[in-house]
Amino acid sequence: MVQLHFLVVSFPAQGHINPSLQFAKRLIRIGAHVTFVTSNSAHRRMTNTPSLEGLTYAPFSDGCDDGPKLGDFHFIHELKRHGSRALTDLVVAAANDHQKVTCIVYNFLLTWVPELARDLHVPSALLWIQPAAVLDIYYYYFNGYEDVIDRNNNDPSFCLELPGLPSLTCIDFPSFFLPSNTGLHVLSLFRELIQNLEKENKARVLVNSFEALEAEALRSIDKFNMVAIGPLIPSAFLDGKDPSDTSFGGDLISSSMDYMDWLNSKPEASVVYVSFGTTSALSKTQEKEIGRGLLECRRPFLWVVKQPTENGKEEGEILENMEELKKYGMVVPWCSQVEVLCNPSIGCFVTHCGWNSTIEGLVAGVPMVTFPQWSDQPTNAKLIKDVWKTGLRLNLSEEGLVKGDELKRCVETVMEEESGEEMRKNAKRWKELARG
Ligand code: UDX
Repeated sequence: MVQLHFLVVSFPAQGHINPSLQFAKRLIRIGAHVTFVTSNSAHRRMTNTPSLEGLTYAPFSDGCDDGPKLGDFHFIHELKRHGSRALTDLVVAAANDHQKVTCIVYNFLLTWVPELARDLHVPSALLWIQPAAVLDIYYYYFNGYEDVIDRNNNDPSFCLELPGLPSLTCIDFPSFFLPSNTGLHVLSLFRELIQNLEKENKARVLVNSFEALEAEALRSIDKFNMVAIGPLIPSAFLDGKDPSDTSFGGDLISSSMDYMDWLNSKPEASVVYVSFGTTSALSKTQEKEIGRGLLECRRPFLWVVKQPTENGKEEGEILENMEELKKYGMVVPWCSQVEVLCNPSIGCFVTHCGWNSTIEGLVAGVPMVTFPQWSDQPTNAKLIKDVWKTGLRLNLSEEGLVKGDELKRCVETVMEEESGEEMRKNAKRWKELARG
């Protein structure tokens, strides 16, 4: 029998690599061969790449050896130029080796892949790494709602009703719709993506979500064939079929795992885990407020603070109260987040609501305190609070900051006996439903 052969092509960023690699592992488990394709610069930095029979890596030069500059159009173009050539070579070589490519699976910032796949006469499928609801929103924006959204995106009383979705106000929109949007070109990529999908008859969209979570959103667009294939989470924390699969395996940062012993020493549901993902950077003033709030909670915490790459002087301000922070918690530059969230000691997740973080929090059954930054994150925060009812959203002060007191208020509400009972119960329910 001919072995299925998938090219899984990932945009070179952590939030894309993790679900893509996890999907690759799933394909291998059903006996397929996977060639995992990303840029050289990302591949070189991947610290713990899985070495599995049936999985080969085919990195290509993206022409930007210092690593991806997300949102930089030059980089996106270079990726297209180099990536098109690399994929073409791979498809041709595979056919010559009698390992014909069955399907090319790609992420949303690689909008050029479906056209290339058509030219190469190979089927393609989008691996959508955000919730189905967000794909729906982009679809409707480019299909009749652009004017109404653009006219009202600054009006706090405006409320948008879309099929299969909760009512959305401006603070719930993907950030690219807002007047403050600095990523107009990103919106143009979404336009291209939707247009490409519409060119196909019932385009295949594989969504990193699950039926129970997004039944209506998955069916909102008749034109697409949206299938929930998530949650894309290491098997050890989901179905247990592969107990050795405990991490995604594509970490772009390496770190010691000292924090695991520390977590294991803490009582059940006692620790606050804080992380704002890989693409956002909080201001030093904001970080200070987060630190103040965490200290005031008087609970153990694990806080991921990215190593600053510039302005070391400002960083000193955080380090100044590091001694005090260390009395209650740990501050680390990186951790294996999925392992942390699934540790029984975690009682609350303070998150930026990147979709991977959100779905990891749901699978772990941990209630969330949300502080969305950009992209799909505001919509994800809305779903967490009002649809799945498993968390709260932090309010901003007049200066646009989340103050320490606000963080303390939300963490306490979520973690304490009565106030958070419903949210904690819902979190446990999603944990069960995620397992199917
Ligand atoms: C970006 C966008 O912000 C997000 O909205 C979009 O859905 C995907 O791309 P990012 O900021 O990287 O994502 O956040 P997220 O989607 O949560 O992905 C981060 C991944 O890195 C998660 O899988 C998380 O488990 C992992 N991670 C993060 C770690 O393993 N350790 C860390 O210390 C931080």
